Amino acid sequence: MLITAGVDIGSTASKAVIFGDDKILSSVIGPSSTNPAQTALEIYRRALELAGKAESEVAVVVGTGYGRAQVPFAHSNISELSCHGRGAHHALNSARTVLDIGGQDTKVISVDKDGNLLDFAMNDKCAAGTGRFLEMMCRVLGLRLDQLAEMHFSDGEPCMIGNMCSVFAESEVINLVNEGVPLPRIVKGLHLSLASRVASLVKRVGIEPDLVITGGVAKNRGVIDAISNKLKFDLTRFPPEVDPQIIGALGAALIASDSARTK
Ligand SMILES: Nc1ncnc2c1ncn2[C@@H]1O[C@H](COP(=O)(O)OP(=O)(O)OP(=O)(O)O)[C@@H](O)[C@H]1O
Ligand SMILES: [Mg+2]
Repeated sequence: MLITAGVDIGSTASKAVIFGDDKILSSVIGPSSTNPAQTALEIYRRALELAGKAESEVAVVVGTGYGRAQVPFAHSNISELSCHGRGAHHALNSARTVLDIGGQDTKVISVDKDGNLLDFAMNDKCAAGTGRFLEMMCRVLGLRLDQLAEMHFSDGEPCMIGNMCSVFAESEVINLVNEGVPLPRIVKGLHLSLASRVASLVKRVGIEPDLVITGGVAKNRGVIDAISNKLKFDLTRFPPEVDPQIIGALGAALIASDSARTK
């Protein structure tokens, strides 16, 4: 069996996937740290252990993400744009537009029928429209990230959050809390504010169906609902067993398989 690995060192979370026999054998997600090389090694070893494989059995390892050059045991590193495109296409063959919302960046990637990168757009290093925005707001609201979706789908009209800038939006949220506005209304407003940002980025590339969403923020169903709402377009879901946060690492492992085959 050809075994390969993909390691995605993101700005916020680090992900490792062990791939073999045309399937994901294991995956691990952990927080990124100030020592990316050490984090990469730790999650890789944990993923190997879960898969019941030894390092010597892995033919090729590809690194990707923000810290892709800091994966000491990787044979090469590839941009996360290509990896997200490739991973998303593997998880859902009909995917042509991939929206990746990570901790620090939001990217829109268009791919061809084989999952190869055609075009992309990226946000300009601004927290609004990324996972960081919701993390900041959760701190202000005293909520956990995994509580946002439930809040989103409870009763109440969304608040209008006027400020696109996350620093100003934070003050706006503090005011709303102090005025006694119910949290679900604020959360819905925040999701719509993030969705407006994301929607304008999507429009820069254009939507070729199917449109899928990857990255940790894709675990928040409230965000997906808000984006569909803003785009007036339904996003296609990955099969339920696919974790959208490991798509970049999966793509890296697939690219590693290609390179092992051509060697
Ligand atoms: N269960 C969850 N519900 C909602 N959001 C979540 C959940 N788990 C993680 N997130 C969000 O996912 C983000 C991390 O996602 P991801 O791992 O895709 O980012 P990254 O790859 O480190 O970032 P980037 O691609 O920008 O460098 C966090 O900022 C967090 O807001
Ligand atoms: Mg990422």
